Amino acid sequence: MIIRAAGDADDAALATIYGHHVLHGFGTFEEVPPAAAEMGRRRATIVAAGLPYLVAEDAGTVLGFAYAGPFRPRAAYRYTVEDSVYIAPDAVGRGVGRQVLSAVLDACADAGVRQVVAVIGDSGNAASIGLHRALGFEPAGVGRSFGFKHGRWVDIVWMQKALNGGDERAPDTPGLHLSGA
Ligand SMILES: CC(C)(COP(=O)(O)OP(=O)(O)OC[C@H]1O[C@@H](n2cnc3c(N)ncnc32)[C@H](O)[C@@H]1OP(=O)(O)O)[C@@H](O)C(=O)NCCC(=O)NCCS
Repeated sequence: MIIRAAGDADDAALATIYGHHVLHGFGTFEEVPPAAAEMGRRRATIVAAGLPYLVAEDAGTVLGFAYAGPFRPRAAYRYTVEDSVYIAPDAVGRGVGRQVLSAVLDACADAGVRQVVAVIGDSGNAASIGLHRALGFEPAGVGRSFGFKHGRWVDIVWMQKALNGGDERAPDTPGLHLSGA
């Protein structure tokens, strides 16, 4: 398996993997699967911000992807990103998520990020909570019933991981260039 930057040719695979989790899971609160072109637009926005958007590929097949995007657009959030990770349903539980998300965290560290936030859909999302815990994320609270999907209320689980020493010292890079004032 290799981890590499996602490109235009991956957008259809990204849409298929993500679309499955949109339709059948609680990890994302999106309810209508985005088309491949929309996945490409979103990816381009992440990359333009200087942040990683990576795929895990095995023998020419994309098994999953992970990326980090700005957490929120307001300027003071410029050292914080939110991660996302989605693995093909027939490839979960084989270490793919760990590898691709680890690579995203390494790239975020290189980009000067101080905090990575995971906003995990569903308190029962043992795989995502377990993956983030395994990579050093700590619990940061639960948003109770923030979502309503598949006919029920759904929590969000906040987790966070400090990079580059977190808040131990003042910023020494400009941080992300965000759209909000
Ligand atoms: C969450 C997800 C990305 C995990 O990826 P994965 O490739 O299945 O996870 P890995 O096999 O790399 O597991 C890495 C670690 O995560 C933890 N983990 C994975 N699956 C788990 C499960 N079902 N229960 C508890 N812990 C789990 C373990 O600590 C595991 O390490 P180990 O194998 O050494 O025990 C994947 O299951 C997925 O795509 N889920 C649906 C979409 C989703 O919820 N995405 C996250 C949105 S926030």
